[in-house]
Amino acid sequence: MKVLFATSEAHPLAKTGGLADVSGALPAALRDLGVDARVLMPGYPAALEKADDLTRILRIRLPEHGEIGLLQGRFPGDGAPVYFIEHAGYYARKGLYQDAAAHDWPDNAMRFGLLSQFAAWLAGPGSPLDFKPDVLHCNDWQTGLAPAYLRYEAARPTPTVFTVHNLAYQGIFPPDVLKKLGLPPESFSIDGVEYYGNISFLKAGLYYASRLTTVSPSYAGEIQTEAFGMGLHGLLAARSQELTGILNGIDLREWDPAHDPHLPAPYSADKLDALQDELGLGPDAHAPLLGMVSRLTQQKGSDVVVEAVPQLIELGAQFAVLGSGEIELENAWSRLAAAHPGRIAVKIGYDEGLAHRIEAGADIFLMPSRFEPCGLNQMYSQRYGTPPVVHRVGGLADTVTHASPENLASGAATGFVIDRLDRASLVDAVHRAMLLYRHPRVWKKLMRSAMARDFGWAGRAQQYLDVYEKICP
Ligand code: ADP
Ligand code: GLC
Repeated sequence: MKVLFATSEAHPLAKTGGLADVSGALPAALRDLGVDARVLMPGYPAALEKADDLTRILRIRLPEHGEIGLLQGRFPGDGAPVYFIEHAGYYARKGLYQDAAAHDWPDNAMRFGLLSQFAAWLAGPGSPLDFKPDVLHCNDWQTGLAPAYLRYEAARPTPTVFTVHNLAYQGIFPPDVLKKLGLPPESFSIDGVEYYGNISFLKAGLYYASRLTTVSPSYAGEIQTEAFGMGLHGLLAARSQELTGILNGIDLREWDPAHDPHLPAPYSADKLDALQDELGLGPDAHAPLLGMVSRLTQQKGSDVVVEAVPQLIELGAQFAVLGSGEIELENAWSRLAAAHPGRIAVKIGYDEGLAHRIEAGADIFLMPSRFEPCGLNQMYSQRYGTPPVVHRVGGLADTVTHASPENLASGAATGFVIDRLDRASLVDAVHRAMLLYRHPRVWKKLMRSAMARDFGWAGRAQQYLDVYEKICP
């Protein structure tokens, strides 16, 4: 089985969120199963710098895009092969999708139209490569047009899988980009790329791909409903039989509490003091430290955490927060940090090492997302013995077992799950977690159950392989 895995980001080459973690780990896990999985992504200069064994394969000129190069390399450390699209005008910028002020780059349609076009070209019959994929695996809106290109350009299109990592980002652009992107006018239809008078890259993927997957079984069900479908529930429900929810795994080597180079000392009982020192939090041995690592967007529910802060501080909590995103949320957290020095530490920005130290060093992890296709941080925190408080949606519902009295007694509990997302429910759940935290025997058992959960990729990669096999002739 040969698979071309097209993505706009892949850890450790380029990352804004969980898509990169998945794109870094899943192709490697597929390779462990004997699949020849290779990645295709934009050649961001920082990514090219990190790749191994880089060689240029070809150069071409496309009238709509200009000069383009194709390079081949590998993930660092003898990892999976990667093809990079080199285009100085499109990819040599700081910020994968947005500028420093969080505005989308105005030419994103062209930047990711090119990625989609290359994915279809390299997976299709006209590919210049020796590598002939049996399946093209596309991810999120940035690669959504690829199945459309294949449909219009190949007599027998290569089968495609389209994975939805997040339905909230739809890649919507005005209709005139259709011509610039070289898609035929008939594709601009409700049975095609058209979406309320515009073009949606995401909808194109959902419409044209042979098979659809998303990143948890619960989210697969939710997105077929009006409440979570973001306008696309009708199409998703119509393709229900071809849609599979497969939970994301985590990279067990990258996120290994026993051998984590980002942690100051071997993972141990005094881990907490190190994080408190690093963040300038007061040395209060009894204060449970609440951790959060997240994109600061509506999705993640950190606005509800902001509302809950005064009560949680009153109850004796400390906070360690790392994130960046919407300016209002960044400001709200910065104000809280200024108002509660020594109790609330906030770092606005992106910091991989600190993300690991918060997952490890906090006592309780907060992730009350409004919706969450899968979510990785709640799995990282469980593996690091930091029980999470989550909202019962999507992958959070599928990966955290609530600390009900029965689940605590049976040893199944791994965290705290709220059924409604509002300030009162959140405060209640965190308060209950803080009370249990004061019972070392109960708390240790909870930590151990969380740490013992198998979140590895092996079984999950096998489920992708099953999907590929269903669509291969
Ligand atoms: P999403 O992809 O929706 O952002 P996930 O939980 O799937 O959510 O993945 C988020 C990933 O991004 C995790 O690896 C997390 O550690 C990382 N991350 C998010 N924000 C930051 C940050 N500010 N600094 C470092 N890592 C971050
Ligand atoms: C998206 C989702 C997140 C998921 C990640 C990887 O960014 O928001 O829930 O874990 O993709 O699939």
